[in-house]
Amino acid sequence: MITPILLCGGSGTRLWPLSRKSYPKQFAHILGDESLFQASARRFVGPGFADPLVVTGNEFRFIVTEQLEACGIRPAGILIEPEGRNTAPAAVAAALEVMRRDPEGIMLLVPSDHAVADPAAFRAAVETGLPAAEAGRIVTFGIAPSRAETGYGWLEAGEPIHPGVHVLTRFVEKPDAARAAELLADPRNLWNAGVFLARASTLVEAFREHAPDILARVSDALGAAETDLNFTRIDAAIWSRVPEDSIDYAVMEKAKNVAVVRFAGHWSDLGGWESVWQESAQDASGNALSANATAIDCAHTLLRSEDPGIELVGIGLSNVVAVAMRDAVMVADISKAQNVKQVVKILKDRG
Ligand code: GDD
Ligand code: MG
Repeated sequence: MITPILLCGGSGTRLWPLSRKSYPKQFAHILGDESLFQASARRFVGPGFADPLVVTGNEFRFIVTEQLEACGIRPAGILIEPEGRNTAPAAVAAALEVMRRDPEGIMLLVPSDHAVADPAAFRAAVETGLPAAEAGRIVTFGIAPSRAETGYGWLEAGEPIHPGVHVLTRFVEKPDAARAAELLADPRNLWNAGVFLARASTLVEAFREHAPDILARVSDALGAAETDLNFTRIDAAIWSRVPEDSIDYAVMEKAKNVAVVRFAGHWSDLGGWESVWQESAQDASGNALSANATAIDCAHTLLRSEDPGIELVGIGLSNVVAVAMRDAVMVADISKAQNVKQVVKILKDRG
């Protein structure tokens, strides 16, 4: 059985004003009727998958439980981080917890900020990677790249080692623009989907070799954790001294025993409003409209009213995103909407 590890800790400032520090994007209903977190959790339910473990912040413990309950998922446990230290500490904490339950256990790290059109196809890709994980590899999932993206990790696929599985010859996390362009030009390179499959013990060994400090402190913090019901509260004093790093930089760029499975289905990281617009249902002129939103003589717009009491109307607009909430309205050129994270900083400084 594979234990899915649902990671949900980021604040997702590029989807402001829908995504807030207290209500980050993974819990919001961005596409369709379920949140990204719910969609990620449901993606790995079924034969071969055990109940998931969740790693999240204290402020999200109730929303996590509520949202899982609403889709009929019972978590095997919820690890509570006193504060976010990025994905490396979260991944090790989960690996140690999986090992405590089963020293041979296999885990699947699942980010909660993606859209995957065909979950069964993704589960099949995970199945394909399983023999490599059982043989002691960390298995990554590669997406055919369509642009020189600097916000992702890049995977270089080498020789095949199992059916459908290739050895990973290079992992480059968030390259600069020039490097990303070079990577795009070489067909061996794929985007890293951010999902990792491995024996928990393989991951722990990788941390022991490449990030021993993180492993030692997380292990101490987890050893001093308090458990009540399904919640494991990691010790705050020790956790505050855990170095902050992502699993990609801390381990994946350095590890040698890595493999990659290509995922040919549709995958998208909903990193900003432009990708939400691309992923949303659109009318013939490319307008993606929520309930209570009307477009007159518009093209390529994303118009979302997030409050049933607010009518949002666009007239003669093109390439515009407008998001109206009860307490905030954001209007931007779609191609510049990534800069919304600057607003979040300005508002924070203003207090
Ligand atoms: N529990 C917990 N604690 N979860 C966290 C934390 C944390 O401190 N920090 C981030 N996460 C969760 C986020 O909520 C998200 O679901 C997932 O971990 C990945 O973190 P991101 O911060 O979104 O990573 P990224 O998008 O910059 O990069 C990763 O994903 C890309 C694909 O979307 C990398 O793996 C890249 O290589 C990859 O291409
Ligand atoms: Mg992300």
